[in-house]
Amino acid sequence: MQINPHLGISQLNVHIGDQQILKNININFPNKAITAIIGPSGCGKTTLLKTMNRLIENSRGVNITGKVLINGQNIYDDYEDLTSLRKKMGLLAQRPTPLPMSIYANVVFGLKLHGIKDEKILQEKAEKYLRIASLWDEVHDRMRDPASKLSIGQQQRLCLARGLAIEPEIILCDEPTSALDPISSKKIEESFNELKQEYTIILVTHILRQARRLADYVVFMYLGEIIEFGPAKEIFENPKEQLTKEYIGGLIS
Ligand SMILES: Nc1ncnc2c1ncn2[C@@H]1O[C@H](COP(=O)(O)OP(=O)(O)O)[C@@H](O)[C@H]1O
Ligand SMILES: [Mg+2]
Repeated sequence: MQINPHLGISQLNVHIGDQQILKNININFPNKAITAIIGPSGCGKTTLLKTMNRLIENSRGVNITGKVLINGQNIYDDYEDLTSLRKKMGLLAQRPTPLPMSIYANVVFGLKLHGIKDEKILQEKAEKYLRIASLWDEVHDRMRDPASKLSIGQQQRLCLARGLAIEPEIILCDEPTSALDPISSKKIEESFNELKQEYTIILVTHILRQARRLADYVVFMYLGEIIEFGPAKEIFENPKEQLTKEYIGGLIS
């Protein structure tokens, strides 16, 4: 397995109140590939994703030990300002979160925040990232319309474009197609397939078929632990652990 540990997690434990949600997580995510995180509801997938951009800190009563390393830097020690951390990480949530402004303003929001003012550059980037998110053809003639006019599936692609526009290194996604219509889901999946040439994508999904279609590597979690991690083909066709076999075989859900 070729691993470039540019995103890695070491001895990570997360407690919320007196409940241990994540147990001794150790993993190096493969670079420029899609790693799917699968496992039953409540096993800690979302929590694990939230530790990677420090969104977890917003939960009450949370206690985190261990390290999340980006290019060798522990994000809990070395990133004082969350803006520079989050610039490295795009996050696509389960439901689209468009800003209450136009389609165009949504895509260029992060760019403006980072000081780009030249309208020509902003327009070029808006087109580029809307194309990558497979939304350009549907919105290019109504860029000044409010984003809220778009369908949920279009809004999710807009959020993908907005995330990509800040040119992150890593894209974190939490069940990004679960609220979408089949056509938008397919378009998002197609975008991911192209994006993995350039980005490290961590995809939480409870849809096993989606993991089969997209993932290069798979992490199987159960009750807050990583049970098995490996190339998707191995996990799906020849899992080593009994629990993984049962989950893939539909015996536990
Ligand atoms: N803010 C929170 N406060 C208390 N318990 C939480 C909180 N967030 C998650 N949990 C608990 O942590 C466990 C893992 O949740 P989560 O990471 O959302 O799982 P998944 O995404 O795999 O469904 C669940 O038992 C859930 O109830
Ligand atoms: Mg979840």
